[in-house]
Amino acid sequence: MHILGFSGSLREGSHNTAVLRAAGRLFSDVAQLDIYSDLESLPPYNQDRDTDEPPAAVAELRRLIAEADAVLFVTPEYNGALPGQIKQVVDWGSRPYGPNAPLYGKPAAVISASVTDYGAMWANEQLRKALGLAGARVADVELAIPRIAERLNPAGELTDPETEGLVREAVNKLVNYSEALIAS
Ligand code: FNR
Repeated sequence: MHILGFSGSLREGSHNTAVLRAAGRLFSDVAQLDIYSDLESLPPYNQDRDTDEPPAAVAELRRLIAEADAVLFVTPEYNGALPGQIKQVVDWGSRPYGPNAPLYGKPAAVISASVTDYGAMWANEQLRKALGLAGARVADVELAIPRIAERLNPAGELTDPETEGLVREAVNKLVNYSEALIAS
């Protein structure tokens, strides 16, 4: 199985990207995770540019999503909401409207992490809602990781066993859900 992973943070030392990398390591025996690396260059959604010849970054994003068996998002929260740039992935991925949209029918899961006690739970909810409206099959995963900075080692890697267990459980749910959908 091939999973495409998205981090909602653009910064180099992102805690969320660290969780995403850990997810790839934790399920490397059952699936391959490729991390989307072009988020900062993705243009804002513009319906006028959403033609048969969209911006090159959009065409590439759509190709990558279409080729993946599932998508995994790990996102922070800014001011109580989903960071704007990660929403672009959902909006571009939701068109052309209907079954030809790359996200339509795509198994998806969302993890969020923040330095606060709430684990970016609002962004998590908003992203699951947006993915569902885009037609993705959102797995029953509700993982909002609080106080993420305390769970990473000095090198910025997720090594905390409790959190690793939670991430492993979340990813297993996505893999099992995707396999069940592929088999049906
Ligand atoms: C934040 N942060 C934050 N955290 C949270 O749980 N809820 C929030 O609403 C916000 N709002 C917010 C706004 C802005 C502009 C910034 C820069 C930060 C804190 C956030 O959780 C923290 O910066 C994380 O470390 C961001 O994730 P990455 O970049 O480490 O993955």
